[in-house]
Amino acid sequence: MSYYEIQGGRPLYGSLAVHGAKNSVLPILAACLLVPGQSVIHNCPDLSDVAATLDILRLLGCRADREGDTIVIDATALSRWDIPEHLMREMRSSVIFLGALLARLGTAELSYPGGCELGPRPIDLHLSALRALGAEILEEQGALCCRGNSLRGREVCLSIPSVGATENAMLTACGCPGLTTIVGAAQEPEIVDLQNFLLAMGARISGAGTPAISVQGGVALHPAQYRVMGDRIAAATYLCAAAAARGEIELTGVPPETLTAVLSCLEEAGCTLHTGPDRIALACAAPLRGISPVRTAPYPGFPTDGQAILMAALAGGEGATLFVENIFDARYRHVDELRRMGADIQLAGRAAMVSGVGRLHGAAVRSTDLRGGAALVVAGLGAEGTTQVSELRHIRRGYQELDKNLRTLGADIRELP
Ligand code: UD1
Repeated sequence: MSYYEIQGGRPLYGSLAVHGAKNSVLPILAACLLVPGQSVIHNCPDLSDVAATLDILRLLGCRADREGDTIVIDATALSRWDIPEHLMREMRSSVIFLGALLARLGTAELSYPGGCELGPRPIDLHLSALRALGAEILEEQGALCCRGNSLRGREVCLSIPSVGATENAMLTACGCPGLTTIVGAAQEPEIVDLQNFLLAMGARISGAGTPAISVQGGVALHPAQYRVMGDRIAAATYLCAAAAARGEIELTGVPPETLTAVLSCLEEAGCTLHTGPDRIALACAAPLRGISPVRTAPYPGFPTDGQAILMAALAGGEGATLFVENIFDARYRHVDELRRMGADIQLAGRAAMVSGVGRLHGAAVRSTDLRGGAALVVAGLGAEGTTQVSELRHIRRGYQELDKNLRTLGADIRELP
């Protein structure tokens, strides 16, 4: 089983282009199903989650080819509407295919996605949104059977601004004649990216980035060419790495306004930041300071996906910071691993009190989930001595060539078999 070996304490310097956003590319690839013909998607990162999405598209009868960071999907020969359990298990967010299949074929069958490393991941909001649009959904022995014989645009109210449920409702609404309004919608930048792709396909949709999204469904769509936005969480990871290891780095390809909550934490912790269109520069010369409480929240609040990564940087700084995780139940699994590196973190329910210890020390640690794994790499870069991070499969779900990119910035990190 391969692992990363990191010699910590080397400051990071240089410039890096951040890859396309995992959380955008998955729904956009699913949206390619909406029409026959060939869509061309640029800036697609090479991640195991993207490979799993392409496997599903191929199984459903689509052609899916990658050349570099461009993926071409031809959905002309779409012939199946069922996704087997092993593919659903591989990637929980494949529930997004429900909306796309319903809109195109009026039918979809998939197994219940179940829980994941972050705890229970319910899909009740996805199902109630689709039901509100007229879908009939039978839940039997872990299988979901959906029929959309009488889909019609209506108002869909989400009691929690769920990213996935908002995206599923947007895709289904494209196939519903009439006007759909999604009230209480998630406002994440990836929702705006999906809207922009749907607009490129000819959809009549507006409001993404606000809590109310309108879709005039039943309009003829066509395949499109599109460039996926940059990955704001990958960007946050490199910034936290430079904050933990110190140095001066510049990232391109990610609009800084999608990262405001993370940037203001790093600034408060003592980093110097400069931003321009699609450019973020960070300099850090001194140990990080403790900051005001970090409470994860739906966008534009502090992203739950950035919690572990920032915690890892602050754990090796000075001063105390309170974290409160409000989105997922089991999102502190990296804490035990950080403690192996000398971190002082007290947990109480949703709260984690981090007291900076000045410097972490290297240890053999295990990735517990995607962002938890990235957090251990961040911690290792700032720590004294050697850190070994195993279970890289989690990290590969969301980062393309994390080790190579960090080496470009001067880090001493290599993958060992
Ligand atoms: C997406 C992102 C994930 C990110 C998360 C929060 C993708 C592929 N994944 O996940 O990386 O961490 O947003 O920004 O884009 N909920 C329900 N019922 C539902 C759906 C969600 O109760 O039917 C709850 C969840 O338990 C959670 C909250 O709503 O507490 C937000 O989850 P949601 O926004 O749906 O996350 P995902 O779309 O799964």
